[in-house]
Amino acid sequence: MENQQIALVTGVSRKMGLGYETAKQLAEAGYRVIISARDVDQLSDLSNQLRKEGHNTSALTIDILSDESVNYAAKEVAEKWHRLDVLINNAGGFYDQGGLPMEQSFDFVHKAFETNLFGAWRMIKAFVPLLEKSDNGRIVNVSSGAGAFSDIAFGLIAKGDTTAYGLSKLALNGLTVKLAAELKSKGIKVNAVCPGFTATYPGTAEWGARPVEEGAKSVVWAATLPKEGPTGGFYRDGKKLPW
Ligand SMILES: NC(=O)c1ccc[n+]([C@@H]2O[C@H](COP(=O)([O-])OP(=O)(O)OC[C@H]3O[C@@H](n4cnc5c(N)ncnc54)[C@H](OP(=O)(O)O)[C@@H]3O)[C@@H](O)[C@H]2O)c1
Repeated sequence: MENQQIALVTGVSRKMGLGYETAKQLAEAGYRVIISARDVDQLSDLSNQLRKEGHNTSALTIDILSDESVNYAAKEVAEKWHRLDVLINNAGGFYDQGGLPMEQSFDFVHKAFETNLFGAWRMIKAFVPLLEKSDNGRIVNVSSGAGAFSDIAFGLIAKGDTTAYGLSKLALNGLTVKLAAELKSKGIKVNAVCPGFTATYPGTAEWGARPVEEGAKSVVWAATLPKEGPTGGFYRDGKKLPW
């Protein structure tokens, strides 16, 4: 059995993205990091990059929309490492700025929920048996203030109207609460984290987005919580966010 802590991060397809930076910070903290994405070429470039920097990384192709892909990945992790310590559900998207409820298409709303809610849920269902084998099982759902009342810039009552995205992240926060209660007796902590408005696309820093290192640090905080740490909450920068 490998002694090094093992973390799996979904949605690691871009060097500028939160997934890559989160994986890098966890590797720097001493974790073996399994990075995953649906695009094999992007994944292998990023995995090579992390290895070049001296990090202990592996790559697994995962499309979080596919039972077959997710179950195959869980089988691979079981065969190679026999357990998982940290699962980071970072893959997500469908940010519909200006998406008013009366105007948004159901096709788009379904896609947002399929990825942001059901994709994360599918990963959790497949990987909990491996997290149960860890002494420090942690699940981090990368969520967003877009799903909270309290976020005046991007939240439920903000002017931006991100209906599909915001409601899917609101549901992800709700799932976090339910799972935290169910998995508590197994020693697995489940938390949702908003990384804050983060510069993961060119030009967004100019609009006030913070460096990706800061957003990812917020995620890593929840992934590395000590035994006495919280479960079932929604956090940014280690501070509880009101919904
Ligand atoms: N940046 C921000 O300001 C901000 C703020 C709050 C929350 N977040 C959240 O942070 C997370 C990362 O966002 P980001 O800003 O770093 O943008 P990003 O690079 O676009 O991250 C999204 C990742 O999810 C992947 N993905 C989408 N559908 C997938 C699927 N079916 N299977 C596997 N992977 C899939 C994308 O892969 P492809 O390249 O293949 O599409 C991409 O790697 C998201 O959950 C986002 O909602 C971001």
